[in-house]
Amino acid sequence: MMKIKKCIALLLCLTLIFALFGCSSRENGQTETQTDEEQEGNTQETTEPSDDGSSGEQTSDGNDTLVIFFSRTGEQYRVGVIDKGNTAIVAEMIADAVGADTFEIVSADDHYPMTYTELTEVAKQEQNDNARPAYTGEVPDLSRYKTIFIGAPVWWGDWPMILYTFFENNNDGLSGKTLIPFSTHEGSGLSGFDKKLAAAVPNSKVLTGLAIRGEDCQKDQSGVKTAVDSWIAGLEY
Ligand SMILES: Cc1cc2nc3c(=O)[nH]c(=O)nc-3n(C[C@H](O)[C@H](O)[C@H](O)COP(=O)(O)O)c2cc1C
Repeated sequence: MMKIKKCIALLLCLTLIFALFGCSSRENGQTETQTDEEQEGNTQETTEPSDDGSSGEQTSDGNDTLVIFFSRTGEQYRVGVIDKGNTAIVAEMIADAVGADTFEIVSADDHYPMTYTELTEVAKQEQNDNARPAYTGEVPDLSRYKTIFIGAPVWWGDWPMILYTFFENNNDGLSGKTLIPFSTHEGSGLSGFDKKLAAAVPNSKVLTGLAIRGEDCQKDQSGVKTAVDSWIAGLEY
C-alpha cells in the first residue's frame, strides 16, 4: 500500500514538473514568434512602396521635392551682362529653402544669343512658330518626386517655348504631382504661368505661383529671399 502511495506521489510530481516546463517553453516560443513578426513588420515598412509609387529606398533621403528651371546668362533687360541668370538665382533660393534637388533645362544646341535684342527676336520667332526647341541633359526620374517647382523667365508674356517641349516630353512624369510655378520678369508678373501649366499638364495640382522682378535678383537678393521664404511658408503641400 505504501508503495502504491509513493508511486502516485511520484507521478503527481512528474506531471507537475512536466506541466511547468511545457508551459514555460510555449511562452518563450510565443515571445520569439512575436519578435520575428515585429521585425518583419518593421522591415516591410521601410521597403514598401509609398502612395506615389516610389519605393521606400528611393525616398529614404527624405527628398521628394525637385526644382526645375530655365534661365539665361549674358545680356538681360535692365541688368546688363549677368553671369548667373535671374531665374537661376530664385531657383537656388527655393531649393535651399526646401532642401530640393534641381534640374536646369538647357537648350540642346545653345542657339539662344547672348545679346538681349537678338535673343528677343529668336524667342519671338519660336513663339510665332509654336516651336518645340530641344533641351539637353538627363531629366531626373520624376516618379520619385511628389512636389515640383518649375520656373522660367517670362518671354513675350508666356513660358519660353522650350518649357512646352519639357511639359510635353515629360507629361507622364509630371502628371499626378503638385506643381508650383515661378517666374522672373520685368513687369508682366506671372503671365498666367499657373493656368498655362495646368493646361499643359492637366492631371496635376498647380499651386499659387511666385513672380519676382529680374532686376531684384541681381540687385536686392535679400528682398528676393524674403519674398521666396514667405511664399513658401504660405504654400500648402
Ligand atoms: C526674349 C525675352 C522676352 C521677354 N519678355 C518679357 C515679357 O514679356 N514681360 C516681362 O515682364 N519681361 C520680359 N522679359 C524680361 C525677362 O523676363 C527678365 O529679364 C527675366 O528676369 C530674365 O530671366 P533669366 O535671367 O533667368 O533669363 C523678356 C526677356 C527676354 C530675353
